[in-house]
Amino acid sequence: MFRLSGLTLALLLAGAVGITSLSPPVAAADDAANVIKYRKQVMVANAAHITNIFSVLKGETSYGGHIAANAQAISNSAAMILDSFPQGSGSGDTAALPSIWQDWAKFEGAANALKTAADELAAAAGSGDMAAVGAAAGGGGKACGGCHEPFRKKK
Ligand code: HEC
Repeated sequence: MFRLSGLTLALLLAGAVGITSLSPPVAAADDAANVIKYRKQVMVANAAHITNIFSVLKGETSYGGHIAANAQAISNSAAMILDSFPQGSGSGDTAALPSIWQDWAKFEGAANALKTAADELAAAAGSGDMAAVGAAAGGGGKACGGCHEPFRKKK
């Protein structure tokens, strides 16, 4: 109830000042520290799936039949990224940069780019064309870096 009205308010405000996209407020029941832990696991899952895709492409394993499902999993978690970076979750044990909330439209673009790349990879895997799979996997890796570069603190 609170969450819905908070979101509705945010959307109304966004409409009032002409902002086309605005990150959702942290849900009343969700502590920012737990949201940070949650989104790190979304990222860890991304890393696990892409690592296993490259395991096949490098010839370390022969699980070619798993590539499409791993790519689909990345696509699914890409769709969770925006929700996992609500306003107010930028401080604490996090490598997220303030630029995320300063340039939300660009962050949104970076999350969508990962989803598109993962969908292309899943489609290529379905076609069985390994050259296309390799190119699409490279595109997926670039989409990770394309967001980390502007939006994640350097280690
Ligand atoms: C739209 C932006 C975006 C995309 C796309 C993205 N990441 Fe991230 N990633 C981040 C941000 C921001 C953090 C820092 C999160 C934090 O510390 O709160 C992060 C953190 C991580 C971490 C560290 C998690 C931890 O435990 O601290 C890993 C690993 C990671 N990303 C892997 C990936 C991989 C692999 C991909 C591509 C398949 C990817 N990310 C795509 C923004 C992104």
